[in-house]
Amino acid sequence: MKENAISAGFFGTGHFVPERVLTNADLEKMVDTSDEWIVTRSGIRERRIADESMTTSDMCYEASLRALADGDVNASELDLIIVCTVTPDYAFPSVSCLLQDRLGASRAAAFDLSAGCTGFVYGVVTAAQFIGTGLYKKVLVVGAEMLSSITNWKDRSTCVLFGDGAGAAVMGPCEKGSGLLSAYLGSDGSLGPLLCLPAGGTKEPITEEAMALGRDKLYMEGSEVFKVAVRHMEAAIRNAVEAIGEEVSAIDLLIPHQANRRIIDAVNKKIGLPEDNVVINLDRYGNTSAASVPIALSEAVQDGRLQEGDLLVMTSFGAGMTWGAVAVRWNKKELS
Ligand SMILES: CC(C)(COP(=O)(O)OP(=O)(O)OC[C@H]1O[C@@H](n2cnc3c(N)ncnc32)[C@H](O)[C@@H]1OP(=O)(O)O)[C@@H](O)C(=O)NCCC(=O)NCCS
Repeated sequence: MKENAISAGFFGTGHFVPERVLTNADLEKMVDTSDEWIVTRSGIRERRIADESMTTSDMCYEASLRALADGDVNASELDLIIVCTVTPDYAFPSVSCLLQDRLGASRAAAFDLSAGCTGFVYGVVTAAQFIGTGLYKKVLVVGAEMLSSITNWKDRSTCVLFGDGAGAAVMGPCEKGSGLLSAYLGSDGSLGPLLCLPAGGTKEPITEEAMALGRDKLYMEGSEVFKVAVRHMEAAIRNAVEAIGEEVSAIDLLIPHQANRRIIDAVNKKIGLPEDNVVINLDRYGNTSAASVPIALSEAVQDGRLQEGDLLVMTSFGAGMTWGAVAVRWNKKELS
């Protein structure tokens, strides 16, 4: 990655998850599954599910308020809002515009970004470009997902894996040598059918027949996605770290996409970090797609797992298929 004129760092982080907890025991009553199968195959014990009155933008709003408070930033100072999601309130207007209005971010531009579970990583890199050119000084990046709205609750191979939530970060200019140091993004559209929402777009409208076949719900070929995830997350981490002339052993904290404990363990077996250097919260939240990395980032900050000067790597993979990683020198100080 060519170095930007201005470095982009993180000043504030926050997250929100709905109150309602859906445990593996609850799922045992809904489909033919067991706590033992879910825990051994995925590491997930429970997930949060939004109630019917809640929308993706509601979760964005709650997470954003926390990130703004953490960064001591007023919504009216925001120049840009990027919401990364594949489960928007509407096809349009965008979630970012709904959020802009609700936050009272009167001078912010706003757009949504769709990169599946890699959304937040793509969003952070996008924000860094606007900051890097000097165009914008305060950018809010939110990863939010209400996957429960597109989950097929009759398909045991997918419904046990996902959850709802939102995570947010306020980004802006920081000292050279800190903040976002490198980025590696990738995609392969030929793999799109492995993880998709077949009906509901221009290609396939939602009809009664489509609904009867479950084509208005998430479809996934789990074992194929698994292989792609391990291969590309490992490569993305190595690329992001090598781009700054470091070894993977220099990573102080790795925040991987929280899809499956076995995927994270397989990636870590290849790169060999101590377990304490890898953030895992999927046991409590399941896979929250674009929200997974920013929720884990916000929790890591809250738990004091990130210190000034630490080398943080965030990595993800998801629908598209897409993948990516960013290397960040952690420094919450804003450039004055
Ligand atoms: C989905 C996933 C957990 C399944 O694990 P797996 O070890 O690949 O399991 P398989 O799909 O091979 O299924 C094994 C068996 O368990 C069964 N099974 C599937 N879901 C089950 C469930 N919830 N409970 C009990 N049994 C289940 C299958 O029917 C299959 O039975 P069979 O052997 O009789 O056909 C795993 O493939 C995975 O996590 N993939 C990646 C998914 C992912 O990360 N998606 C997000 C992308 S952002």
